Amino acid sequence: MTDLLTRYRERAERALDARLPPAATAPARLHEAMRYATLGGGKRVRACLVYAAGAALGAREEALDAPACAVELIHAYSLVHDDLPCMDDDDLRRGKPTCHKAYDEATALLVGDSLQTLAFELLAHDASLAVSPARRLEMITVLARATGSSGMAGGQAIDLASVGKKLVLNELQDMHARKTGALIRAAVQLGALAVEHADKNLIAALDHYAESVGLAFQIADDVLDVEGETGVLGKRAGADKARGKPTYATLLGPDGARTKAKALLDRALESLGPLGDNGVTLAQLARYIVERRQ
Ligand code: IPE
Ligand code: IPE
Ligand code: MG
Ligand code: MG
Ligand code: MG
Repeated sequence: MTDLLTRYRERAERALDARLPPAATAPARLHEAMRYATLGGGKRVRACLVYAAGAALGAREEALDAPACAVELIHAYSLVHDDLPCMDDDDLRRGKPTCHKAYDEATALLVGDSLQTLAFELLAHDASLAVSPARRLEMITVLARATGSSGMAGGQAIDLASVGKKLVLNELQDMHARKTGALIRAAVQLGALAVEHADKNLIAALDHYAESVGLAFQIADDVLDVEGETGVLGKRAGADKARGKPTYATLLGPDGARTKAKALLDRALESLGPLGDNGVTLAQLARYIVERRQ
């Protein structure tokens, strides 16, 4: 990561820390578990996308804290539920025991519920978000659609229904676009929506970028499941194979999947053309997403 992206990552961590309920506040165990699942780990790629997309259109960083936190909260919720025994049944996440292992399943369910609602509360009420009420509503709608049954939750449903099956490329792409791509696209859209009067052509360019990056992100995740190491990943390598999940790595082979991710990276970089120099950080982020080792 570049210095600026590291700074965004650290900024997101502080912004989340300030917005999560204090661990000592009742119900303390739930609040402690929410903080456990959200803080002190994670690459903060989605927060970086919010900051970089907003900054590319001229937003102040402070005005991007609430949407950056909102997408990271939804993401953290999705990981807590994704790791539950009824879903991927994983015991390691971000180098620590998964939430239901460190606490219990009921707490993990409630952590997910609470992180999700906090995300929407931030978009509705966070004072640092300097936009009109109508724009707040737009932001809430974007995040809700990306997260719900047509987006992330729908993608997770397809993922679970696909265990042990062989999907064709289009089906796999659709699943990935929903379960991972939708939130990544929303992150970029929310960054752009934090700017009240942004140029429509630039917003369209950002959306094309986000679509490519979203799919590339999950392809990289699929490849890392095959080629990564548990110690570096902070989650169990080989988990997809063990569970019979259809992935880009199984369908195209790791080399074919990597080639596809590189092609998407090229497309993402091309999409940034209209942004000129203002697209540099987004370009660096796209490269990081495809070339990362964790
Ligand atoms: C993991 O996401 C889940 C997927 C959508 C593939 P990340 O790789 O962004 O996880 P963290 O936030 O860095 O832990
Ligand atoms: C998770 O995908 C997608 C969501 C949580 C919405 P994966 O199941 O591939 O994520 P990891 O590999 O467990 O991080
Ligand atoms: Mg999963
Ligand atoms: Mg999983
Ligand atoms: Mg995975």
